[in-house]
Amino acid sequence: MTDTLDIKITKTTKSRLAETDFSNLVFGRTFSDHMLVADYEGGEWKNIEILPYGEIALSPAISALHYGQAFFEGLKAYKHEDGTIAVFRPEKNAARFNKSAERLCTAEIPVDLFTQSIAALVDVDRDWIPAAAGHSLYIRPVMFATDAYLGVTPSKTYKFVVLTCPVGPYFTKPLRVKFETHYTRAAEGGFGYAKAAGNYGGSMLPFKKAAEEGFDQLIWTDAKEHLYVEEMGAANVMFVLDGKLVTPSTRDTILDGVTRDTVISLAKSWGMPVEERRVSIAEVVEGARNGKLTDAFGAGTAATIAPIGAFHHNGEEFTLSDPSTREFSQKVLKTLDDIRYGRVEDTFGWNYVVR
Ligand code: PLP
Ligand code: COI
Repeated sequence: MTDTLDIKITKTTKSRLAETDFSNLVFGRTFSDHMLVADYEGGEWKNIEILPYGEIALSPAISALHYGQAFFEGLKAYKHEDGTIAVFRPEKNAARFNKSAERLCTAEIPVDLFTQSIAALVDVDRDWIPAAAGHSLYIRPVMFATDAYLGVTPSKTYKFVVLTCPVGPYFTKPLRVKFETHYTRAAEGGFGYAKAAGNYGGSMLPFKKAAEEGFDQLIWTDAKEHLYVEEMGAANVMFVLDGKLVTPSTRDTILDGVTRDTVISLAKSWGMPVEERRVSIAEVVEGARNGKLTDAFGAGTAATIAPIGAFHHNGEEFTLSDPSTREFSQKVLKTLDDIRYGRVEDTFGWNYVVR
């Protein structure tokens, strides 16, 4: 699909913009005035509509609720200093959305429908994009199965919905984390690489327990032996070990993060060695002991670059350097911000300009 989409737009008559406190945004609680909804029926996407944010009526029998045929994406739109509005790398999210669709046996969505729908919605709610440092408009596309049928079989109908939320930073302090060696987020042959709703449902109990033990986040480890690092909460995890950027290689159990890919591209462009491979807990602990671990952070759209301040393993606490003194992640953050807020030339072509 390359033609401009036919989108019906109905604007709200009661904007909530004036009553929204942009200085106290809690991630994911404040929704902008509009949403986009489209239906998949009879083998095609139809009824693409932008309308006031609000409830939608659904049968309680829809298979998304019973069998979890549901998945989502997360990306952000930024307001540049010259007023330009751009979404960061939406084609990557479109591709991953379709990878999730394939694994969950749903309809797929044309990349142009995904990106143009998002651009149209962001344009309608452009006044909702906060311009303050570290702020943006978080975009949440979701697809879910809508057949009212209790047979365990792929639905024939789906909804594609896009919501947006003005947001500030997701984490506001360095994180204290533990390696999760009991629960598992994803196993080989499973669907950890998909952004399936069920992956997040299954993470809530381990998160709750980690929080009760005083941790801000947990680092998932491999399902077989719990010896290798996989991801950090809802973000990828990256380390600087002995001057090299080291991160778990993507596989069945790991979400192929857009931020991860962005950080790797920046590191390579700076001539820094990058290793995408299995990363053991043992070598991270060893690096913390001998000083070769000079940076450690989560990388994700919501999380952005979230520094790990300390980690705990086998009863021992390892405190890492003050994040503000870390050369690599500080340079990544600054460069990323410069690109996303349009302060420097976008040499990688990462900004999808809306207007
Ligand atoms: N891993 C998981 C489990 C996530 O939920 C996310 C967040 O989207 C990421 C990694 C990071 O991916 P991205 O950088 O594309 O947001
Ligand atoms: C995102 O960064 O979009 C995420 O997936 C995190 C979200 C679940 C809060």
